[in-house]
Amino acid sequence: MQTEKERELAPAGEPERQYYFMELLRRHNEERSAELGRSLTYHIETFGCQMNAKDSEKLAGILEAAGYVPELSEQADFVLYNTCTVRENANTKVYGRIGYLGNLKSKNPEMRIALCGCMMQEPHVLAKIKQSYRFVDIVFGTHNIYMLAELIWRLVSGEKRVVEIWDGTEKIVEELPSEHKYRFKAGVNIMYGCNNFCSYCIVPYVRGRERSRRPEDILAEIKKLADEGIVEVMLLGQNVNSYGKTLDSPLSFAELLKKVEAVEGIRRIRFMTSHPKDLSDELIEVMRQSRKVCRHLHLPMQSGSTKILSRMNRRYSKEDYLALVDRIKAAMPDISLTTDIITGFPGETEEDFLDTLDVVKRAGFDSAYTFLYSKRTGTPAATMEEQVPEAVAKERFNRLLALLSEQSAKQTGKHTGMTAEVLVEEQNEQEPSLLTGRLGNNLLVHFPGEASLVGQFVQVKLCECKGFYYIGRQV
Ligand code: 5AD
Ligand code: SF4
Repeated sequence: MQTEKERELAPAGEPERQYYFMELLRRHNEERSAELGRSLTYHIETFGCQMNAKDSEKLAGILEAAGYVPELSEQADFVLYNTCTVRENANTKVYGRIGYLGNLKSKNPEMRIALCGCMMQEPHVLAKIKQSYRFVDIVFGTHNIYMLAELIWRLVSGEKRVVEIWDGTEKIVEELPSEHKYRFKAGVNIMYGCNNFCSYCIVPYVRGRERSRRPEDILAEIKKLADEGIVEVMLLGQNVNSYGKTLDSPLSFAELLKKVEAVEGIRRIRFMTSHPKDLSDELIEVMRQSRKVCRHLHLPMQSGSTKILSRMNRRYSKEDYLALVDRIKAAMPDISLTTDIITGFPGETEEDFLDTLDVVKRAGFDSAYTFLYSKRTGTPAATMEEQVPEAVAKERFNRLLALLSEQSAKQTGKHTGMTAEVLVEEQNEQEPSLLTGRLGNNLLVHFPGEASLVGQFVQVKLCECKGFYYIGRQV
């Protein structure tokens, strides 16, 4: 078969190999398009976190280089689900929707379905897909997203179903195409994987060991983004505070931030996520002195109880967390803190939960993501004694939400009457006469304005606080 011969001719080195397959596919798709009298379309559905959102931009970049054009609905010729498995309800959602894709496929003979992301790294998920969702054409994991073009080519070459999932990798493939959802802000991976093994968390198993990108590669990417007009970058990693430890010539995250700060054209720098155990005084100092690093820290606490934190393998105590918050606020009184909190972790008693409420009262969070503990097969917490009944976890969850909304309204409202610089992100969907902008501290503000301001910095007076956002007026 012609296609097999072409595969044998593929370069061995990356990223050349992938560019070769993108080009083969592009030609193939062009021919197919001519036969059909229309373009071939793609649709990517992203579940989960910012890492997945970033991966989806890379996947979109590959698909567009291969000649597919974006389609907003799932009625497309190539539909890709980039999945999340951090909590059980994420999985349930995905299964339901794959079933729906099956129906669509029966109506469009051209349609191909691919699944990737964290869920696919779990053996029981793959088994279920192989058995119950036979119409899925391609399945791949978190370590080999860069080879999407090659995987599609294998399908084109006649393989019935392409499954390519790796347990781990040392490899970081640079220099592949990437699409950007926004033309003024972009995420930049600085590291992959996680070595922390918090006892509830599946991420280290599905995203593998921690690997830092080389600073030269990160900076080259950011410079290129700045040249393309990007003004805000979000540095991404599961635990950015341990960046650089495994590099040939180690570099701290704080040092990396200083280098990013020096890139001309970049005006705002954000990062996530920070693990409290690794957040250094050096980083606080760099943030304090910086003109570009935004005054916002996402600092997941998970629980306020030292006993539960120890069972979670978080490696800090309630007191350590509060002391860290004090150090951060002493250096930057205007900082906005946000956090993640889990209720119902195995062994959590009413007293432990009261410790969580206590930290919430004392830390002054602007907002928090709250989660019901979800048992993930294969993690140490899944087999711990004293699993908390769901009703108890839910009841605590609701009490936590009530306290948080009271606290965050107080915290957020502090800026009422002030004028601040916002980066205009979009026209408001419900009310097109309004724009939505983001403050340095990550709060949103809606204000009347022209759509031409999207992507620009403007000064906005924060007139009225509506809980977690403001209504403002351009000045
Ligand atoms: N159950 C509930 N929440 C979890 N998270 C991670 N794993 C679980 C789990 N098994 C939450 C943590 C983490 C956020 C991204 O998701 O709070 O910080
Ligand atoms: Fe999961 Fe903990 Fe790693 Fe975050 S730091 S990804 S919660 S193991």
